[in-house]
Amino acid sequence: MQVVEDIYEAQKTFEELRQQGRSVGLVPTMGSLHKGHVSLVERARLRCDVVAVSIFVNAIQFNDVNDHRQYPRSTEADLAMLASAGVDFVLLPTDEQMHPKPMNVLITTSGAAELLEGVHRPGHFDGVATVVAKLFIILGPGLAFFGEKDFQQLVVVRRMVSELHFPVEVVGCPTVREPDGLAMSSRNLRLAEADRAKAPIVHRAILAARQAYAAGETSGRGLIAAMYEILSSVQDLVIDYASVVDPQTLKDVDHVKPDSRLVVAVHLGSVRLIDNSAVGGD
Ligand code: PAF
Repeated sequence: MQVVEDIYEAQKTFEELRQQGRSVGLVPTMGSLHKGHVSLVERARLRCDVVAVSIFVNAIQFNDVNDHRQYPRSTEADLAMLASAGVDFVLLPTDEQMHPKPMNVLITTSGAAELLEGVHRPGHFDGVATVVAKLFIILGPGLAFFGEKDFQQLVVVRRMVSELHFPVEVVGCPTVREPDGLAMSSRNLRLAEADRAKAPIVHRAILAARQAYAAGETSGRGLIAAMYEILSSVQDLVIDYASVVDPQTLKDVDHVKPDSRLVVAVHLGSVRLIDNSAVGGD
C-alpha cells in the first residue's frame, strides 16, 4: 500500500495509472475508520483495478469549531485497517496543500443541500462539495464510493458531479450497522456510555415508520408521527428532524412511495447522530 501526502505526487501517479488503462476507484474519508469504510473499500475492490482512499479531516465542512476539534483522529490504526483491506493507495494531504490560503474559491451548493442538514449545518455541503471536487481533480477516479448513511451527502455529490460534468460514477453503498442497529459512524466513539445505550432508538424509530408503511400508512404525517412516538420516549434526546422526503429533491412528501426516504437527526449529549432508510426498506 502506497501512502502519499503530496497532492502533486498523487496527481502524477494517478495520471500514469490512467494512461496504463487501469480503472481507479476512490473512497473519500475523514479517517477514524470503521467497518462501514471497509465495506466501501470492498465494493471498490470488486469494480476497480486500483483502490484509493483519501483521509482528510476537512475543516471547511465543519460549521462548529468544537465538532472539528473533537473529531476523532487515528491515522496509524486507519492505515493498518486499510492495508489489511487490500487498499492500493492512500492520500493523506495536509490542510495547507488541500486548501491553500487565502482560500478564495468555494463551491456553492443549493437546492437539496439547503434542506435537512443544510438547515442545521449551514455551509456544510459547500465544504463537502469543494473537497470532493478537489479530490476528483487530484486523483481522477472513474468511480467514487460513498455510504448511504450520509444520504443527503450522496444526493449533493451526485448533483455536483452532474452539474460540473465530472466523468465520475458515484456509487452509493448500504449503511453498515452495529448488531443493535446503530448506524456505524466515527462520531459514535464520542457517545457517553449512557447515550450509546440509547442511540439504537434512532434506527428503531425508522423501523417503526417502515412497519407503519407496510401496514398501510401512506401519509408522510403518519410516518413522522410513528418516528416521533419512539424518539420522544427517550430522555435527553433532542430531535433536529424526523421527516419523510423525496429521494432526489429531499423535499417533504405527503403521499409516501417505497423509495421515499425516512431521515432522522438527533442529539445525544454533545453528539449528533443521523440515519435514514427507504420507506420500503433498504
Ligand atoms: O463522508 C465523509 O467522510 C466526508 O464528508 C467526505 C465525503 C470524505 C468529504 O470530506
